[in-house]
Amino acid sequence: MSAGAHAERYALPAVLLHWLQAALVLWLLWLGWNMVELPKGAERSAAYALHKSFGLVALGLVLLRLAVRRLLPPPAPLAAGHEARLAAAAHRLLYALLLALPLAGYLASAFTPFAMKIFGVELPRLAAPDAAMNAFFKSVHLVAGWSLVALLALHIAAAARHALRRDGTLARMLPGRVSGN
Ligand code: HEM
Ligand code: HEM
Repeated sequence: MSAGAHAERYALPAVLLHWLQAALVLWLLWLGWNMVELPKGAERSAAYALHKSFGLVALGLVLLRLAVRRLLPPPAPLAAGHEARLAAAAHRLLYALLLALPLAGYLASAFTPFAMKIFGVELPRLAAPDAAMNAFFKSVHLVAGWSLVALLALHIAAAARHALRRDGTLARMLPGRVSGN
């Protein structure tokens, strides 16, 4: 393989954060859709508490990723023209949803009468309970959740297509030796 295909890759911190956040977000989507089906009781409350705590971790991770992206910019696109523009737009939209989704979840929870806790530690109250605001941010959370699922389906299909073509796109998001220059 030519050095060029691997010389430009995502930095290791960006790679590790991508896969850590991918696993966390896929699990949160699964947990979110399962917990809302549970009957009222201890199991449901525990699932909600877990979802909120790890949801806030996911919010922290996306902020960390964006900071790392500034310090260690991603490699130049492998494709040219409209394919590169499409990938860049999809990645921007992914980041927007990865911010909006947990933020909406946090705001929805902030307007309930319940105290907001992260791993059992109570956070300061942001606002007085407000049923209308709670319902609004719940809807935003739901729509952002579905939008993220749709976009991730495209993202993963695009990654699979690149992997089948062995064009180096997946390789530069995997940990490995930096070969070439
Ligand atoms: C099996 C699942 C996944 C695969 C195979 C995959 C693969 C990839 C690859 C190869 C890239 C680099 C694209 C390029 O160089 O142009 C990438 C970027 C990205 N992925 Fe994924 N991904 C997966 C899941 C996810 C998930 C679940 C998320 C969201 C939580 C996600 C968010 C992103 C973002 C935001 C970028 C842009 C990175 C940047 O340029 O800063 N990915 N992914
Ligand atoms: C990336 C992070 C997150 C993902 C992927 C995610 C995903 C989901 C999904 C798929 C659902 C079920 C669909 C729905 O009814 O809305 C849900 C529900 C919920 N999420 Fe999240 N969520 C995240 C972060 C958060 C955060 C940070 C909080 C609060 C601190 C939160 C609070 C809630 C609540 C309270 C519900 C239940 C809504 C209801 O009862 O209708 N989520 N989440």
